[in-house]
Amino acid sequence: MEISKDIQLKVIGAGSVGMSIIEAFAQQGFTISGIEVNEEIIQRGMARVDKNLSKLVKKGKISDTDKEAVIKRIRMTTDFEAVKDADVVIEAIFEDVDVKKDLFARLDKTVASDAALLLTNTSSLSVSEIASATKRPEMVAGMHFFNPVPVMKLVEVVRGAESSEDTVGKVVELAKLMGKVPIVCKDSAGFVVNRMLHMFALEGCRIVEEGVASAKDVDTGARLGLGHPMGPFELFDALDGVQLFPKVCNSLEQEIGSRFKIPIWVRNIIRAGRTGRSSGKGFHDYTKE
Ligand SMILES: NC(=O)c1ccc[n+]([C@@H]2O[C@H](COP(=O)([O-])OP(=O)(O)OC[C@H]3O[C@@H](n4cnc5c(N)ncnc54)[C@H](O)[C@@H]3O)[C@@H](O)[C@H]2O)c1
Repeated sequence: MEISKDIQLKVIGAGSVGMSIIEAFAQQGFTISGIEVNEEIIQRGMARVDKNLSKLVKKGKISDTDKEAVIKRIRMTTDFEAVKDADVVIEAIFEDVDVKKDLFARLDKTVASDAALLLTNTSSLSVSEIASATKRPEMVAGMHFFNPVPVMKLVEVVRGAESSEDTVGKVVELAKLMGKVPIVCKDSAGFVVNRMLHMFALEGCRIVEEGVASAKDVDTGARLGLGHPMGPFELFDALDGVQLFPKVCNSLEQEIGSRFKIPIWVRNIIRAGRTGRSSGKGFHDYTKE
């Protein structure tokens, strides 16, 4: 199978990231099928794509005709059998290793072509372990996108213990063909970007813990001193990712070492049920804004 815009491309899971991946490929001229268990999520996802594309029309970046063409290139279904003729499958379902392994075992049985690539968009799980659920681990690799996918240029291409060179090379080609910049890394907790992000955020947490500066000033320092678009606390709040922060840190701590241990004050914020900006409270309090 040669990588081109004519391949049979399937994304499984149309939640916040899966649908964003689908939108990004369709914007780049790929025809793409999305497979999602929940019909309501499909409707919500397509409404979100429509809204995003309408914004681009409003800004004059694409025409109404372009928008219609992008939408036409997206085929959504709840029928798992739609993976049968896949050349490339990108999995974007729940971040749970057993759920993902179960899906990869089903993909192994259902995807007809031996040359098909079976890719996972996992952010923190082991690609090698997910691949072990198949009889073709050499065809499995990670293709880790960043949200919102149509905007974020980076793709981490993750080489599992059994991924073949050909598989890794094809994922790199696919990422380039959709206008992204790929970086290749080994299967290792947090890959490259999440490992750096969590270490950076944890150092911010320690600065607050030691009373060196407030969380607000850490954010301002990161924005104005380092040129980051958002400080670490603002970022987790904006992503409503406060509850995810300890989960990723815990797995980084287990795999890499105690430097990823979370300070007590952060554990307490998490135990208090703060989730992020949408709910009014995360690392910062937005209820008085
Ligand atoms: N949130 C991020 O910024 C980010 C970035 C990159 C990668 N990821 C990874 O992407 C994956 C998806 O994350 P998300 O935030 O979109 O999750 P989500 O919970 O929003 O979406 C998961 C979707 O998968 C669907 N699903 C579950 N099992 C399914 C199955 N067997 N078949 C078809 N659909 C199924 C669910 O109905 C749901 O809509 C995770 O592995 C996550 O780690 C997340």
